[in-house]
Amino acid sequence: MLDKTKKDWWKSAVVYQIYPKSFQDTTGSGVGDIPGIIRRLDYLQTLGIDVIWLSPVCASPQVDNGYDISDYRDIDPMFGTLADMRRLIAEAKRRGIGIMMDLVLNHTSDQHPWFVQARQGRENPYHDYYVWRDGQPGRLPNGMQAVFGGPAWEWVPEVGQYYFHQFAPQQPDLNWENPAVRREIYDMILWWMDQGVEGFRLDVIDQIAKDPDLEITCNGPRLHEFLRELSTETFQKGCLVTVGEAWGADIPRARLYSAPDGSELSMVFQFEQMVLDQQPGKEKWDLAPLPFVKMKQSFARWQQGLHGCGWNSLFLNNHDLPRIVSRWGNDGAYRVRSAKLLAIMLHGMQGTPYIYQGEELGMTNIQLPIEQYQDLEIRNFYQKRRAEGCPEEEILRSIYAKGRDNARTPMQWNAGPGAGFTTGTPWLPVNPNYREINAQAEMADPDSVFACYQKLIALRKRYPVFVEGDFALHEAEHPRLFVYERSLGEEKLLVVCNFGDEATPWKAPDPWKNAQVLIENCPRQEGTLQPWEARILYCGKQ
Ligand code: GLC
Repeated sequence: MLDKTKKDWWKSAVVYQIYPKSFQDTTGSGVGDIPGIIRRLDYLQTLGIDVIWLSPVCASPQVDNGYDISDYRDIDPMFGTLADMRRLIAEAKRRGIGIMMDLVLNHTSDQHPWFVQARQGRENPYHDYYVWRDGQPGRLPNGMQAVFGGPAWEWVPEVGQYYFHQFAPQQPDLNWENPAVRREIYDMILWWMDQGVEGFRLDVIDQIAKDPDLEITCNGPRLHEFLRELSTETFQKGCLVTVGEAWGADIPRARLYSAPDGSELSMVFQFEQMVLDQQPGKEKWDLAPLPFVKMKQSFARWQQGLHGCGWNSLFLNNHDLPRIVSRWGNDGAYRVRSAKLLAIMLHGMQGTPYIYQGEELGMTNIQLPIEQYQDLEIRNFYQKRRAEGCPEEEILRSIYAKGRDNARTPMQWNAGPGAGFTTGTPWLPVNPNYREINAQAEMADPDSVFACYQKLIALRKRYPVFVEGDFALHEAEHPRLFVYERSLGEEKLLVVCNFGDEATPWKAPDPWKNAQVLIENCPRQEGTLQPWEARILYCGKQ
């Protein structure tokens, strides 16, 4: 168990993300719930993780699956009660696992009592909790667009003004310029800290300091001022792990966010590697093949750029991204081996690893008929492209590759009905491959993807070089090999990955010839790396 009284305990931690709607249903409603998470805590303890990042469970009309909160201090009845939540926190803690809440602070639901008041009139004390601009019906303040499509402005006739929303119209942006808003937020966070949570993930945190008049949404001028105040008023009063979602982060900004003095956050999620297979200037749906050399060089830049002066988060999946084995691996003939390669590639690096539910099983993307998709981003995208005259198959191809519901299908627990997720009808179909890919089968198989994740977590805890070592990229221009070295005094690791369906000639360089193999994903063959082969070599103290 980690010593969580140590300031930087999260540097040795591994985090597991739960998307509660799809994790474990205990009522037959077809939707996962908090008692279901409690039921599966032993599974998570067996895997070896230290923290659960829980996607939002607060009261919400669920327009964006909980990222539209109507009461920050209550649990959505769909997931259970506040008493269930307290039990989850306690039961997890008993197993050495901390709960990381998802804080959605950029916006609320339009059903939040603050917004219900705010839209009643300009004189209402809550009016200034949100971002309003004068205008006339049909004459928008400017041309800003919302992330989920359509204009970022919504007209409210009662006040004769538009409010600003970076996401759906049901997600009005909070006005962080107003000190009363900031105070409400700090009090709410302190309240959750009192409930015993051990960390927070901050949703789209780089978008809080907006200035719509200048069309600034991300990295606004007051962003780091707000974050430092937030951190002083809340996080620094405890010993927490905090991670901000920051699509706009570059390395200099990440150094600020994750400065070792703890003045802002523990770390951020940056997305530089995750957008490399998108075409510049185009939407995320317009795909390009992964530029492999750029990808590994980008990882190397971040590894070196934050070493000793910041901290990386390590992730390849979350509830907004397609399944990595379908995206960068081969989810057909080499599913198991390529899922393990991706895990080995990532978990050998410096930073705090995040595992998204089902990633540890090598779960894959799904292909559904359009009417079965639930995500509002997918639905909006489909309608927009249809209206533009785009052929149906082409739109579906983009959704199959990039749609968020790929990651949101229910957790595959066993080969029984409903994959052990539900006895009812799941809110989103279970992937039909659950008979083959499921937790029960993988836990019984020492060569499974699950076993590989379990081992990687254990290695990180055993060898300090995983946590503290520096990073050097080998074979920087090689089109298929991703090889890097980590070193900490006399302890060294060499992580070797053959990325792709082709075998590649390779010989261990001199000091590594007789090195110990800590983990590997297929039988070794002298002088050759097989398709998707990966291993970690170790030199140093035994
Ligand atoms: C973040 C969340 C995403 C959500 C959006 C709006 O990007 O991860 O799921 O839709 O913020 O809150």
